Amino acid sequence: MSEPILEMTDVSKRYRAAGGFGRGRKGFLAVDGVSLHVERGEALGLVGESGSGKSTLARMANGLVVPTSGTVRTDGQDIARLSRRGLRRLRRNVAMVFQDPLASLNPRQTVRQTLENVFRAHGETTSTAELAALLESVGPGADYLGRYPHEASGGQLQRVAVARALALKPALIIADEPTSALDVSVRAQILNLLADLQRDQGISFLHVSHDLAVIRLYSDRVAVMQRGRIVETGPSDEIFRSPQHPCTRALVEATPEAELPA
Ligand SMILES: Nc1ncnc2c1ncn2[C@@H]1O[C@H](COP(=O)(O)OP(=O)(O)O)[C@@H](O)[C@H]1O
Ligand SMILES: [Mg+2]
Repeated sequence: MSEPILEMTDVSKRYRAAGGFGRGRKGFLAVDGVSLHVERGEALGLVGESGSGKSTLARMANGLVVPTSGTVRTDGQDIARLSRRGLRRLRRNVAMVFQDPLASLNPRQTVRQTLENVFRAHGETTSTAELAALLESVGPGADYLGRYPHEASGGQLQRVAVARALALKPALIIADEPTSALDVSVRAQILNLLADLQRDQGISFLHVSHDLAVIRLYSDRVAVMQRGRIVETGPSDEIFRSPQHPCTRALVEATPEAELPA
């Protein structure tokens, strides 16, 4: 019962060098022997500078990227050993929210079609009332069902992306820089929405950001990543108050004064 919703053990990812520019024939080790876990109901923040391997790690957590070595378990099951049915269940159980909602939604599909397709992909039907309720639970009114992505603001679109992630009642949501592409004015709203989902529905989060201020406010625990490795982990406030690793210190120092703890 108490096994973590996500457990990654000694996971590495080596990308093959495309054309071999400057990275040698062995390719590039984007993630280098990382172990981390997310407890049920927990929000783990993964923070690190750009290019440190956060997105690669996040994508390995739900099977979008296959590790070169190491094991990934969700709900106690090794995802490399899953049957087709098991993989489908994994996709239900672990949902993703990406950085850019406009890029992650099909421009030729209305919001209704986007949401319907999620149900259809898992052999389920749904009603207009259910779709409207789903959408309303994250903000946009039911009138958004008929809209195309270009007919909504970035903030509303990211709410649609959250609705899509929630459609099949996942246990874990992986949010990869979910507010980095949004106007500053709506960032807090989206982050609060995610925090509400964690609190009210007990959904676990792997929250990826280059911004430690965001991670600190919206995560119970933090893992700091640098050049493919986790260099420090701990409770958010502790990491912020007394960062041990130089990389963590640099991230804390890069945080605006106003967001430092009193
Ligand atoms: N598909 C890929 N092929 C080759 N290299 C990649 C690929 N995806 C990412 N990388 C490289 O791996 C490193 C880590 O990238 P990424 O996981 O996106 O980091 P982050 O999300 O922390 O910015 C970067 O140097 C990036 O250029
Ligand atoms: Mg990234």
